[in-house]
Amino acid sequence: MLIIRAGETDDAPGIARVHVESWQAAYRGIVPQAYLDSLTVQNQALMWARLLDRRRGLTVLVSEADDGRIVGFTAGGEVRHRDPRFQAEISSLYVMPHIQRQGHGTRLFMALSNRLAAQQLKGLFVWVLAENQPGRAFYEKCGGEPAGEVTREFAGTPLREIGYGWRETPKYG
Ligand SMILES: CC(C)(COP(=O)(O)OP(=O)(O)OC[C@H]1O[C@@H](n2cnc3c(N)ncnc32)[C@H](O)[C@@H]1OP(=O)(O)O)[C@@H](O)C(=O)NCCC(=O)NCCS
Repeated sequence: MLIIRAGETDDAPGIARVHVESWQAAYRGIVPQAYLDSLTVQNQALMWARLLDRRRGLTVLVSEADDGRIVGFTAGGEVRHRDPRFQAEISSLYVMPHIQRQGHGTRLFMALSNRLAAQQLKGLFVWVLAENQPGRAFYEKCGGEPAGEVTREFAGTPLREIGYGWRETPKYG
């Protein structure tokens, strides 16, 4: 049974493990390899500990397997760019590579969306790398509609991102 719960500062190493493993698997051939190789659980744990400490309106949820290990996480809050259509944004959603495609991402998405809707944030948005086809298929399956496009420099390489939006933040029973 998978448990979804709020992330705490102590969860930073577990979240960092998922972050590094899923980035290195999902973004190979998309994000510069030197950047992927430079990611370490230790460094990401420091970043996540700082984020979880400060929080500043960020909602972080983790999914925990039977053995208590964190196998997925998601984070979101108020939209970071100004767009009157969407007040909430998903900033991260990652599932450990070996358990993807078993419904865990959907459960995390639904739980985060419910939390953001409960904060009265209307409309939901997410940026996905254009070349991340599984990520795009996932958000399309979740009901997101294309809602923007941007090219940003990342580790010295321009990367195209596609925005997906939901006019109403979805609520699940
Ligand atoms: C995207 C991600 C969060 C999805 O989580 P997941 O647990 O694998 O997804 P689910 O099992 O809930 O999939 C739900 C639906 O999304 C779509 N989908 C998910 N993975 C897919 C893939 N690899 N290829 C095509 N469609 C996919 C399917 O429609 C799937 O439904 P189905 O299995 O009934 O066909 C996960 O694959 C992941 O962590 N990927 C790497 C990071 C990433 O891309 N994050 C999103 C961008 S921030």
